[in-house]
Amino acid sequence: MREIAVRAPGRVNLIGDHTDYNDGFVLPLAIDRDCRVLGRGTRGELELRFLDGGDENSFRIANAVRDALGLDIGLDAEVTSTVPVGSGLSSSSALAVALATAFCEAEGLRLPPVELARACQAAETAATGVPGGIMDQLTSVAGLEDNALLIDCRSLEVTPVPLPETIGVVVVDSGLPRRLAGSAYAERRAACEAAAARLGLKALRDATPEQVANDPRARHVVSENGRVLAAADALSTGNLDELGRLMLESHVSLRDDYEVSTPELDTLVGRLVDAGASGARLTGAGFGGCVVAVARAKEAERIAAACGGFIVRAVDGAGPLTAG
Ligand code: GLA
Repeated sequence: MREIAVRAPGRVNLIGDHTDYNDGFVLPLAIDRDCRVLGRGTRGELELRFLDGGDENSFRIANAVRDALGLDIGLDAEVTSTVPVGSGLSSSSALAVALATAFCEAEGLRLPPVELARACQAAETAATGVPGGIMDQLTSVAGLEDNALLIDCRSLEVTPVPLPETIGVVVVDSGLPRRLAGSAYAERRAACEAAAARLGLKALRDATPEQVANDPRARHVVSENGRVLAAADALSTGNLDELGRLMLESHVSLRDDYEVSTPELDTLVGRLVDAGASGARLTGAGFGGCVVAVARAKEAERIAAACGGFIVRAVDGAGPLTAG
């Protein structure tokens, strides 16, 4: 069977956390850290060699991805990844999407982006037991060089928002393993679904600020959706100060209303702002993992160095590895 060489990127979310599973809005970008699968399709089993260290979840995800795609093929391949594991940059979605892309390549199959992302989401939920949303997989599939993606998680419409050259994106890993993240995540998600049901709504996407004024969890979701749309506007007009302000507000909401921050993440946000970032916030599920910041592009390198972080660039979504 044919040779395969594919990649799928991790992602960082600029703003809009814990909104995707409420049919809401998110504003992530696919980043220049990826998972690669090199090998060939076979008629046999999955023979995967994880050169950067896989765990039992990696094997489970691989089997679950094949099941979700309904394909009856094997893969003999080496898997490498430059997405830091367990840090909130979607290393497991990058793995799932890279494997799904590899299976499709081996079969000569072209799936629509949303279908590929949905299969990977189902596979990850089956493999890890965490009922995640669609943001991570869809970003890894649909990423676009030099653009953030405004995703409507109800219609799954993806609108590219160009990242101005004047704005730099910095990521700092807190180094904290995201312990309890799985069970707390499921608990938060259930609370949102219960709040929507009490209001007789399909999802919290449909709630007004007045309806959720006394429910901190639901209040975060509703206020965060508003911030995502405002942030997409600010980004598209290059309004760094406004973007930064919205990100800081998002962090406060995730810390106080949604209660998914940690003292270390709060400290990192403060350090980034002190170092000159226009805004910073925890990114992803929380409970550890990474903080994302925006700054004037000219200052991003210095700020990243001062806070022990790195700059990320927006790249294209999953696909064949091209030469060079
Ligand atoms: C994790 C999930 C995503 C999303 C974020 C929080 O990364 O996989 O679907 O819910 O948390 O925004």
